[in-house]
Amino acid sequence: MGLTAYQALFDHGKLTAGQRVLINGAGGAVGGYAVQLAKNTGAHVIATASPRSSKQVRTAGADEVVDHTATEVTAAVTEPVDVVLNVAPIDPAQLAALPGLIRSGGVLVNTTVWMPAPSDEEHGVRGIDLFVRSDAEQLAQLVALVDRGELHVAVAERVPLAELPTLHARAAAGAVHGKAIVVPPTA
Ligand SMILES: NC(=O)c1ccc[n+]([C@@H]2O[C@H](COP(=O)([O-])OP(=O)(O)OC[C@H]3O[C@@H](n4cnc5c(N)ncnc54)[C@H](OP(=O)(O)O)[C@@H]3O)[C@@H](O)[C@H]2O)c1
Repeated sequence: MGLTAYQALFDHGKLTAGQRVLINGAGGAVGGYAVQLAKNTGAHVIATASPRSSKQVRTAGADEVVDHTATEVTAAVTEPVDVVLNVAPIDPAQLAALPGLIRSGGVLVNTTVWMPAPSDEEHGVRGIDLFVRSDAEQLAQLVALVDRGELHVAVAERVPLAELPTLHARAAAGAVHGKAIVVPPTA
């Protein structure tokens, strides 16, 4: 999840200090890392989150939080952003509207790759489908950030191995938020 956020923002989004980034779906696992990494870089972070996750998204460092259950993000973001990272399971029409929030030369990076990322060539906005790749060096950088207290890993719950089927069932129903650690039995 951390690698996905890292590669989206920096390999593809080329996000730098002072830029504006919209993280759509910041209430989830990838989004939570993305908000922290973007803020650490010195970007202005706009995040969408439902009331359930808005506090954690603010704590992660978002400068602005848009409640996607009450407002369309396209109506809430009034100044162009440099990068949009979409990690939310929105519908294709909502995804198609996101390039309209981006300045010329900016990018939309999308992780929900069952819908191709739209571009707006007329206005110089590029859509990128992200497929995370393993990268030991980047992972080591993320671990170093965690060790320095600059990246927080939200552990929502610890679950005994015997309860793994129940955990999977809850996850499939959308009832698991954040990282769950599965604990093996002690010998
Ligand atoms: N392509 C790749 O290589 C790759 C890699 C990793 C993940 N992914 C994909 O990336 C997506 C995000 O992963 P994740 O683990 O972060 O998922 P997740 O934990 O389920 O997070 C998604 C979050 O989106 C928020 N959301 C739901 N509906 C929304 C809406 N209409 N507008 C804005 N936000 C909304 C929800 O938070 P609130 O309702 O609390 O706001 C939810 O927690 C998943 O679809 C996953 O499959 C792709």
